[in-house]
Amino acid sequence: MVPKLLFSTFTLLITCFFGFGIAQPCPRPRPCPSISPPPRPTRTVSYVRPRPPLYDPSLRLLPSQPNNNPGPLANRARILAITQELKRNITFDPQNYTPTWVGNNYCLFKGFICDTVPDLNITGLAGIDFNGARFGGNLNFYRFIQNLPDIAIFHANSNNFSGVINQGLGGLRYFYEIDLSNNKFIGGFPSNVLSAKNLTFVDLRFNNYLGTIPRSLFNFDTDVLFINNNVFGQGIPRNLGNTPALYLTLANNNFNGTIPRSIGAAWETMTEVLLLGNKLSGCLPFEIGYLNRTTVFDVGSNRLTGPIPESFGCMAKLQLLNMAHNRFYGAVPEVLCRLPNAFNFTLSNNYFTQVGPQCRRLIKLRRLNVNRNCIMGLPFQRSATDCANFFSKPRSCARESTFSIIPCRLPAASLRTRTVFQEDEVAPSPKTYNALEKPPH
Ligand SMILES: *[C@@H]1O[C@H](CO)[C@@H](O)[C@H](O)[C@H]1NC(C)=O
Ligand SMILES: *[C@@H]1O[C@H](CO)[C@@H](O)[C@H](O)[C@H]1NC(C)=O
Ligand SMILES: *[C@@H]1O[C@H](CO)[C@@H](O)[C@H](O)[C@H]1NC(C)=O
Ligand SMILES: *[C@@H]1O[C@H](CO)[C@@H](O)[C@H](O)[C@H]1NC(C)=O
Ligand SMILES: *[C@@H]1O[C@H](CO)[C@@H](O)[C@H](O)[C@H]1NC(C)=O
Ligand SMILES: *[C@@H]1O[C@H](CO)[C@@H](O)[C@H](O)[C@H]1NC(C)=O
Ligand SMILES: *[C@@H]1O[C@H](CO)[C@@H](O)[C@H](O)[C@H]1NC(C)=O
Repeated sequence: MVPKLLFSTFTLLITCFFGFGIAQPCPRPRPCPSISPPPRPTRTVSYVRPRPPLYDPSLRLLPSQPNNNPGPLANRARILAITQELKRNITFDPQNYTPTWVGNNYCLFKGFICDTVPDLNITGLAGIDFNGARFGGNLNFYRFIQNLPDIAIFHANSNNFSGVINQGLGGLRYFYEIDLSNNKFIGGFPSNVLSAKNLTFVDLRFNNYLGTIPRSLFNFDTDVLFINNNVFGQGIPRNLGNTPALYLTLANNNFNGTIPRSIGAAWETMTEVLLLGNKLSGCLPFEIGYLNRTTVFDVGSNRLTGPIPESFGCMAKLQLLNMAHNRFYGAVPEVLCRLPNAFNFTLSNNYFTQVGPQCRRLIKLRRLNVNRNCIMGLPFQRSATDCANFFSKPRSCARESTFSIIPCRLPAASLRTRTVFQEDEVAPSPKTYNALEKPPH
């Protein structure tokens, strides 16, 4: 917590940001009197990581050879019964799954994957892979899965599953991967999914879920959390930083309000975070700078404003930064442009007013895009009228003193003036951007 006392002392700090239009370069924000950085936010939940795989990871939806003579099969009668019910409900099966769902050996059914159930030591149904099956009909996810007690992986993207998940999935003791993206789910966040204790991969993107997301979502121990492209709204719960997710996408929803300060508490785990395409507003919390393992940070196309906190100079692993299409202003911090892993920093379509030598170097290397801002002397900027209009309104942020906090020793490589990127540098391969593509239907 920042002591409230400090606020008033620094409220006049960044007055030069209003000065565009006066033909005078904006000096860098005056350094603040030294203040000790507030203690970094701490998580309130404890979590277990890394987790041992529940089933052999080599499974990963590579079906073990279908076994024609499997001996006893775990929960055979129950699984056959629910499969026949599902089959009756499927009215459209362009990939011909259901014709294979005959006989007693469910290991041979298309889309069914068997493996040894650890606690029973007999063959059981470990995985369902209906990805892209494009089933039509009225398919009740919860009713189906609750009858698959040994399930570890359930992949059913781009199908017609729907229905309420009306009780917890805690009974599925090996369940660790759920992909329900691009189905027909509606209504509020399916909180009952969160009672599955060992889910490490949760993919609910591209449905029609709406309303708020529960705080418990960020107390939920998972590695991957994709809820982009729904209609979730209101604020992002303030305990955001509790999430131990490595990959988090909240993009393309209706979230509004500010980015929670607690985000910094996720520094040990947060690797890629996509918040683009919402209605987030307000200034950035400097605590984002604690995210020194984050490689991708994307808040593009929101309504965010204020300067970039100097703490961004601490994001030593940052490769891809997108802040385009917001209302950011001020000088682009030189410490940001010195980051050793800067690969593609997009700050276009904002109201930035100044770039220093490090940033100009990055622009020249085509690593930094500041098009359509208010930076005098650079090409492809906004018109003077646009800029003057924007700066005619007074603009400020709460906690202005925190914008100059640098809560780290600046990354070593960033102190060097590199003019050329290393030859052996490999392009980043972010994992989350694919989640923004709709799975093929
Ligand atoms: C599992 O069953 C097989 C025979 O089907 C046996 O060889 C093996 O020892 C059993 N493993 C355990 C852990 O009980
Ligand atoms: C999906 O299910 C809904 C009813 O839940 C139905 O109206 C729609 O036609 C189905 N889509 C397909 C492709 O079968
Ligand atoms: C099958 O359809 C019936 C009638 O709509 C529904 O009650 C049931 O939950 C469905 N079951 C599955 C597994 O989809
Ligand atoms: C699964 O969840 C239970 C309950 O939280 C926990 O005790 C167990 O250790 C977990 N198993 C693994 C492999 O993470
Ligand atoms: C967020 O959106 C909701 C619903 O539209 C609205 O009631 C609320 O005031 C908004 N909050 C902010 C901070 O804009
Ligand atoms: C990352 O940040 C944490 C907490 O602020 C710090 O303890 C750690 O040393 C930092 N790691 C690196 C590589 O700078
Ligand atoms: C850089 O990132 C922006 C924003 O995410 C993207 O639109 C652009 O295509 C990227 N540029 C390159 C060369 O990858």
